[in-house]
Amino acid sequence: MKSIITGLLVAAGLMVAGGASAVDMPKLAKDRGCVACHAIGKKGVGPDWMEVSQKYKGDATAEAKLSEKVAKGGVGVWGKMPMPANPKVTPAEMKELITFVLGLAK
Ligand code: HEC
Repeated sequence: MKSIITGLLVAAGLMVAGGASAVDMPKLAKDRGCVACHAIGKKGVGPDWMEVSQKYKGDATAEAKLSEKVAKGGVGVWGKMPMPANPKVTPAEMKELITFVLGLAK
């Protein structure tokens, strides 16, 4: 798990050399448009992924729960702003993204 995350972070870091103090988003998150609303270490339209990771730390059902939530969209956990459905994200990509998010706080 840790090596995957480190790999993702390194890959993301290589994509955008220099700049931002916040942790860079993985390429997949950029390709799938998550970055339009999410960042790591700061809140955007959607919640800071670091806070998401902290919230679900130790929750064994989080991966399944969040995968479905992101695919279908939803509202009410972080505020009044809804997340639209993300139908273009494949199950494999979703697993990669959610694993990444949940791994941030470990
Ligand atoms: C148009 C803006 C927008 C986009 C694009 C978006 N999100 Fe979100 N996201 C939100 C908002 C707003 C929330 C808070 C929803 C809530 O309060 O229930 C959220 C919540 C989340 C959560 C936490 C859900 C929970 O129930 O705690 C995760 C994980 C997440 N997004 C991942 C993603 C991923 C992965 C992508 C890309 C495939 C993505 N988001 C794309 C706006 C967005």
